[in-house]
Amino acid sequence: MRALKVPAALLLLLIAIDSLDANRRKQKDKIVQTTVNICEIGNRDSKVYCYCENSQEINEAIKTECWVFNGGIDKADPLWSSFTSQMNLETLAFNVRSDGGLSFVPNKILRYLRKLKNFSIKFSSINKIESYTFVNISSVQEMTLTKNQITTLNKHAFYNLSNLTILTLDANKIKKIETETFYDLPALQKLFLTSNNVTIIEDGAFRHLVNLLELELDKNNISTLNKECFDGLANLKRLDLRKNKIAVLNSFTFIELWNLQELLLDYNEIYILAQRTFDGLSQLRKLSLSHNKLINLADGLFEGVRGLSALDLRNNKLKRFTIENLRPIYDNLKLQKSYIYLEGNDFDCDCHLAWMHKLRHEAKSIKVRTSLENFLCKFSHSSNTQFTYYEKIDSKSNINGDKLSDDADNIEEFHDENEESFIDEPKKVRGDNDRTLLQIPVELLPCPTEVKSVTDRTYTYPSQNEAKDYRNLIITSSISPIGINISVLLLSLLLLLG
Ligand SMILES: *[C@@H]1O[C@H](CO)[C@@H](O)[C@H](O)[C@H]1NC(C)=O
Ligand SMILES: *[C@@H]1O[C@H](CO)[C@@H](O)[C@H](O)[C@H]1NC(C)=O
Ligand SMILES: *[C@@H]1O[C@H](CO)[C@@H](O)[C@H](O)[C@H]1NC(C)=O
Ligand SMILES: *[C@@H]1O[C@H](CO)[C@@H](O)[C@H](O)[C@H]1NC(C)=O
Ligand SMILES: *[C@@H]1O[C@H](CO)[C@@H](O)[C@H](O)[C@H]1NC(C)=O
Ligand SMILES: *[C@@H]1O[C@H](CO)[C@@H](O)[C@H](O)[C@H]1NC(C)=O
Repeated sequence: MRALKVPAALLLLLIAIDSLDANRRKQKDKIVQTTVNICEIGNRDSKVYCYCENSQEINEAIKTECWVFNGGIDKADPLWSSFTSQMNLETLAFNVRSDGGLSFVPNKILRYLRKLKNFSIKFSSINKIESYTFVNISSVQEMTLTKNQITTLNKHAFYNLSNLTILTLDANKIKKIETETFYDLPALQKLFLTSNNVTIIEDGAFRHLVNLLELELDKNNISTLNKECFDGLANLKRLDLRKNKIAVLNSFTFIELWNLQELLLDYNEIYILAQRTFDGLSQLRKLSLSHNKLINLADGLFEGVRGLSALDLRNNKLKRFTIENLRPIYDNLKLQKSYIYLEGNDFDCDCHLAWMHKLRHEAKSIKVRTSLENFLCKFSHSSNTQFTYYEKIDSKSNINGDKLSDDADNIEEFHDENEESFIDEPKKVRGDNDRTLLQIPVELLPCPTEVKSVTDRTYTYPSQNEAKDYRNLIITSSISPIGINISVLLLSLLLLLG
């Protein structure tokens, strides 16, 4: 109607342009023939809709995400051939929104997409990756097959993906990792298998992944690790085995992982660690074993991991952490960024923990110091009279412990981004018998004979500096006049003994 207002010449011109346009459209249709542009699927009954980015024009889209609806799509569906309308796709993602809507990997269409770099399928009912599924899809660099129903990975399932660097198979039901599954993946750096049902890892299962840097096997059903199951992973830096069912770890389990820096074993059921479990892990810096069932640690457990500077043993049932355990890594724990967490265990307040005083004094790391300052142990009542004096101070000056932890919370700059959940832990309620170990002077730590044998006697005598530390601890914490009086009493006692 607006056209009426424009001059007749212009109107004619507009009509001419319009017919030209129609002509061009017709020509384009001829080129593509019957093929539908997947970026412009208009059919209401279509089983697939794709949202394209960059451009919708034929062969111009770079990235597309396709939803599968309406009962799903089978192998014979003519729609698959429509993917040839976008031969320059670099990213293609399928999101299946219909139960059983996609039960196979559409590998035929993938072979047309010579520039495909990133491929993903989610929520499909695919339950098996057949051998040679991805042959001639070698341009893909990142593949995500999360939240499908995959139970089985056949041998050579990922064969010929020579540029694949990241493979994500999270949240499937994969039961077993077979030896020849991850075969011919020379570029693979990250393999994610979180939240599956992996129970068996065959010997040499990862043998061909010589360039793998990260392997996530957390939230699976693994109960045993054979010595050969990590063969070949010579470049692996991070191994995540949290939330499995591992109960026993044998000597040399990780012997092949000589570049590993981070080993996460939290939330398993580990109660036995053979003395040489960690042998070979000469580059290991971080070891976490929290939420397991450890009671004892073999003396030389850390002899093979002399680079260890971050150790988490929280929430086990440990009764001892001896100077023999500590010795191979003691110097590392003095360094700036190190930490050692031992909370939530069954330690008695006795002389085998005397090393904590020394380390607290020598550590540069705020985390180490804070952790030691807040460390609680159980004090049994069968102790000597000297200790009774101390007990009184402790109960009058609880402020001390709180004050130290407040200070620690204010220090942000040392927060380690790799470290999870320290803050999430519910604060443990302090039991009646719990005492802050560092508030007990070394020479007042009970030293029953069976404990003496695991104690380095050189640590039981406080140095001048340590005596100064106690004095500071006591003075800063004593607010009530009774506190001061008793502190002075204790201090005199200390100086007498020193
Ligand atoms: C590849 O696709 C996945 C899933 O669609 C996405 O999370 C990821 O960021 C993509 N990667 C790149 C490099 O585009
Ligand atoms: C892969 O490509 C090669 C060479 O182009 C061809 O001979 C072979 O048939 C292709 N394989 C598949 C499974 O498409
Ligand atoms: C693999 O990646 C390299 C480097 O990015 C590239 O030159 C090569 O063409 C890719 N191979 C395939 C089959 O796309
Ligand atoms: C593997 O992929 C390459 C392209 O990177 C191709 O040339 C070769 O034929 C493929 N190998 C097999 C056995 O299909
Ligand atoms: C995991 O695998 C076991 C057999 O290995 C099977 O009994 C169990 O049902 C599977 N669990 C899930 C959640 O698929
Ligand atoms: C773990 O494996 C055991 C034995 O193979 C099986 O009975 C159990 O159902 C599995 N657990 C889960 C959560 O699938």
